[in-house]
Amino acid sequence: MMRDKHNRAVNYLRLSVTDKCNLRCFYCMPEEGIPFCKKDEELSFEELLRICSILTAQGVDKIRITGGEPFVRKDLMLFLEKLTKLENAPEISITTNATLIGPHILKLKQLGIRSINVSLDTLDENRFFTITRRDEYKRVMQNLTTLMQEGFDVKINCVVMQDQNIEDIPLLAQLTKNYPISVRFLEEMPFNAQSEGQEALLWNYTNIKANLEEHFGELEKLQDPASSTSLNYRIKGYKGEVGIIPSFSRTFCGTCNRIRLSANGDFRTCLYGAADLNLRDQLRLGFTDEQLLNNLQEALQQKAKNGFEAETRNLKQVKDSMAYLGG
Ligand code: GTP
Ligand code: 5AD
Ligand code: SF4
Repeated sequence: MMRDKHNRAVNYLRLSVTDKCNLRCFYCMPEEGIPFCKKDEELSFEELLRICSILTAQGVDKIRITGGEPFVRKDLMLFLEKLTKLENAPEISITTNATLIGPHILKLKQLGIRSINVSLDTLDENRFFTITRRDEYKRVMQNLTTLMQEGFDVKINCVVMQDQNIEDIPLLAQLTKNYPISVRFLEEMPFNAQSEGQEALLWNYTNIKANLEEHFGELEKLQDPASSTSLNYRIKGYKGEVGIIPSFSRTFCGTCNRIRLSANGDFRTCLYGAADLNLRDQLRLGFTDEQLLNNLQEALQQKAKNGFEAETRNLKQVKDSMAYLGG
């Protein structure tokens, strides 16, 4: 098992397979997009697989595929199939906007990929268009329904935004009445590629929880999995769970088990702050597995103890998009 400088075990890789997306959620990127990486700047699937294999041999047992939108990348399913066949096969989960997943649902099931996090901020078609700037609501709802019917472990991620989707808090939470899914409400973070940063966060953990309790009564606290990003609850008598991800108002750095690889090869030991290392050049210069592992381990010795607090004073300068950072 790999450990960082602060003796935290590292077993969770967030792998962004592309920074491109077919939506334009305004909290993530501007209408014109971000300076997306060019084809040859992007790690190939062979290169990604090589890094994954080095890391899984070291005890990384959970890989979350993110983007951008992962299904925008051609032949994603072929890559996923290879990933499931690694010697130390990791648990694979995917974070997606669910626009393009439809044709792949059965194959995902066959590959044993069960955990799908769907980014969905509203149940209203007009609000969906306003937030994502694209007309994809119907497709998303159809795919979400199929995922739920097929028994996937579905988590919905809803970024809570003043003047945008406050009415959706109870509507989305209501889905947990009959479906055994998790609906998680996220505090907005200043990663939108155009940010002046947030002066203050209106919809923080406390306000989101109060809103839920106003509609549903006192929430029952559930035990959170180790290193969970969300604080999880159940509405009394409901089948599913609701969660709140307080990514901006508090820090879960203490139990952080994550590392991140962006589509361009940037390797990060923390969501906040600059990349620790770019693996693309090293891969293409012919570094051996041993050399790559040494460099990854060296980067882990730099991992911030509490990157969030170290960076909060600089948040006004954050110019990165989640699509590049990989969430
Ligand atoms: P599960 O493994 O299902 O619990 O998912 P997850 O919460 O790790 O992943 P998901 O892709 O659904 O991300 C949900 C939110 O948590 C996103 O907004 C992420 O940016 C945020 N998040 C994930 N990791 C970190 C982290 O290390 N620090 C902070 N502050 N936020 C994070
Ligand atoms: N603040 C909070 N969450 C964000 N996401 C994307 N950009 C932001 C932001 N600025 C969410 C997406 C996805 C998850 C990986 O991150 O909705 O569900
Ligand atoms: Fe695409 Fe997700 Fe960013 Fe929305 S939040 S633009 S779905 S990458």
